[in-house]
Amino acid sequence: MDKMDQMVTYLPKFDREKLPTIASITAAVFVVLYAYKKTTATPKEDEVPKGLKPVPIAPGRQFLFGHLLTLGKRPVLQLQKWHESIDGPFFKVYFGARQIIMINDPQIAHEIFVQRGAFTSSRAAHTFSHNIYGAGGRGVVIAKAGKKWKNSRTLALDILAPKFVDQFDDVIIKETRTAADALIRVTETNGSINPLKTLQLATMNIITLTAFGERFPSTDDPMFRTLVDLAERTLTYAGIMGDTGAFFPKLGWIDVISGRRRKLRGFVKEFRDKPLAVLIDRARKSQNDCLVKTIDMMKEKHELDELDVTIILSDMIVAGSDTTAVSLTWAFAILVRYPEIQRKMQSEIDTFMAKEGRLPRYEDRDQLPYTISVQKECMRYRTTTNFGVPHVSTEAFEYRGYYIPKDSTIISSMYSMHRNPAVFPNPDKFDPERFMSNTKSMYAAANGPLENRDHYNFGWGRRLCPGTHLAEVELFNVFVSVFAKSTIEPTFDAQGNPEYPNIEDVKAGGVVVTPVEHQVRFVPRVL
Ligand code: HEM
Repeated sequence: MDKMDQMVTYLPKFDREKLPTIASITAAVFVVLYAYKKTTATPKEDEVPKGLKPVPIAPGRQFLFGHLLTLGKRPVLQLQKWHESIDGPFFKVYFGARQIIMINDPQIAHEIFVQRGAFTSSRAAHTFSHNIYGAGGRGVVIAKAGKKWKNSRTLALDILAPKFVDQFDDVIIKETRTAADALIRVTETNGSINPLKTLQLATMNIITLTAFGERFPSTDDPMFRTLVDLAERTLTYAGIMGDTGAFFPKLGWIDVISGRRRKLRGFVKEFRDKPLAVLIDRARKSQNDCLVKTIDMMKEKHELDELDVTIILSDMIVAGSDTTAVSLTWAFAILVRYPEIQRKMQSEIDTFMAKEGRLPRYEDRDQLPYTISVQKECMRYRTTTNFGVPHVSTEAFEYRGYYIPKDSTIISSMYSMHRNPAVFPNPDKFDPERFMSNTKSMYAAANGPLENRDHYNFGWGRRLCPGTHLAEVELFNVFVSVFAKSTIEPTFDAQGNPEYPNIEDVKAGGVVVTPVEHQVRFVPRVL
């Protein structure tokens, strides 16, 4: 029985006491239907010019809800099936009234997002991310394409450029070594650990040390917890499923009368504006070199005001901490099943250390091709996001004979793209060897021609993640620090059987895909 059938079956029997409720539900349904009709009545959506084909629609579209009820508990799995069965370069699904075009072929993504980037690089109208968090389109991540976004992005590219990030090399090394030690220490004290919080502390400290010149001593620090909440909740609220107004644009008022919009505004004030005002003020008064001071010097040139600066710094926290911590948590949850692969990385690191008498640094990466390949394969095997950050077209255009209307949401289907057998043969196999012929940096691969790309986790074209180099340096240093000192092992049940992390399910959430709660052990190596 599908979800719609279940809803019909469980509708309440008529009952006088329930009449007022039934009346208000009926009224609400009429209002919804009226607004839906108005929303979907936009004629340009389905007006395909002569000689062009419409984008194929996935099967199972339902009245009002579109494909929302057809997608099941894990939408990526259903979307993956449609990618395999629907004929054509892409297909579209409806989330309520919103049409979304899904792409799982990197060649097509490249042709659409890179070659046609002049009109495929905007962002969706999203109540939380655009109106509330972005204060009407400020910042970098969710700002619609335009002058404001260009100015903010240029600033982000400046401060996240490899040359600039590399000045903070020592900070990154220190924080990642501290995290590796903590993973071992907590395992020794508690028997096992879910590494996510410790990794969040490291990635957050790297952002806050570079941005504000401050770090947090532990995961119990109240400011750290506030900023983690800011990152986690923003990424959840900004998720594609989290916006009534985006599905039914004329129903945004439901969020107003239900009080949701007020709650979201309160969240942004309490968890972003207030703490960031404190951090920015302390950074300006301190002796430490930090991004706040660099941004202060640059902001006039980029025509940015104080609110822009706050949102850009918040973007760094939101886009730059959880993403990297979650990618690492996936990597460890995967690698616990592959002791042989861990041993091969350890032997590569040991060989370097025997020669140089120290741990490898990022600039030594050429001497660790296997370790680099494992990092890439982990990110392919379990992508950091399911859908990247959706792009929106600002013009109608033709692509391979198909008509793509203006304002189409276009998604790089990360999950399916990294399982596309034409790109990654035998995709269900965890096989680091597949990257041994492409060990150049992820930054170089992402910024180079399509044939040189390794994976697609950092997105596309004019929206390509500006934090790629920082993320990569962090991943490298955490891997080296962890595997030089420890081996990741499973926990054991009462009967002594190994218990491996569940890497098939994910925590329900927004933009970033987090593994479900699990425990592993970081066991010190005996050398
Ligand atoms: C493993 C770690 C990371 C992953 C997988 C990741 C992934 C992404 C993706 C998929 C996008 C959207 C690209 C698109 O629209 O096509 C993005 C955008 C962005 N990322 Fe990252 N990211 C990571 C780390 C970072 C870090 C460390 C920072 C900075 C501190 C950062 C800052 C940003 C910003 C500012 C944007 C918005 C760019 C724009 O819209 O113009 N990211 N990232």
